[in-house]
Amino acid sequence: MGTVLTIRGLSFSYDGRRKILDGLDLDLSAGETLAIMGYSGSGKTTLLKIIAGLLYPYQGTVKTHDAKGGIGYIPQNIGLVKNLTAVQNVAHGALGRIGTLPGLIGKFPQEVFEKAYQLLEDLGLAEAADRKAGQLSGGERQRVAVARALMQNPSILLADEFVSDLDVINAYEVMELTTKICRRNNIALIMTMHDTYLVNKFADRVAVLKDGKIMNEMPGNQISIKTLSAILGGGPVE
Ligand SMILES: Nc1ncnc2c1ncn2[C@@H]1O[C@H](COP(=O)(O)OP(=O)(O)OP(=O)(O)O)[C@@H](O)[C@H]1O
Ligand SMILES: [Mg+2]
Repeated sequence: MGTVLTIRGLSFSYDGRRKILDGLDLDLSAGETLAIMGYSGSGKTTLLKIIAGLLYPYQGTVKTHDAKGGIGYIPQNIGLVKNLTAVQNVAHGALGRIGTLPGLIGKFPQEVFEKAYQLLEDLGLAEAADRKAGQLSGGERQRVAVARALMQNPSILLADEFVSDLDVINAYEVMELTTKICRRNNIALIMTMHDTYLVNKFADRVAVLKDGKIMNEMPGNQISIKTLSAILGGGPVE
């Protein structure tokens, strides 16, 4: 499997004083599902934003290789356009490819809408496709956000705590569908997560972020609250 992302010596600070990331190294293989765990405030969102190209300047190198479809990003607060329907929100994920102006005036080519409907169907949301995003439940909105990020056929998908607000059943379902779609399409997935059960179930690999670096990497099925606490230096967990 080829490498789609190489990060070396990545350092970042918001204020020029406190380093949020401090010499971080990370590699990502094509089609791999990687979970990033770490305390709240450890810099997970910051890392994803840098990979997505939304935060700079930084020190070090962040290189994507053969990332033809680019990078899809599901922000921690998804930010759908409430007055647009689910399928219109998904279609907006194609803006990068088709140019902003036609998209902004709501004129997407037919193929874009067809693909948007298909993605919503893949995510079990066909029935809600024509409902306004403001009228969807949290779990439904989360599926729309996944579909929107997949619209551009990314090589890498970044999902920032994308199931944290969902009930356990919905979280499981959205994770299952998303990881399945990514594996099927050879999309490398980086998800920041807090739930060790879901990481064990769905991640190929887990990387733990601490002190601005990846402290520990292990297969995705080997993380428990106990191991996590030991890595992070928290109190003993029985
Ligand atoms: N725009 C900003 N300006 C200044 N500091 C920021 C900014 N965004 C985040 N920070 C700080 O950077 C640190 C890392 O934040 P980040 O959002 O990356 O953490 P996180 O690991 O994603 O946390 P969580 O698990 O709560 O989402 C935190 O201390 C946060 O307060
Ligand atoms: Mg975060």
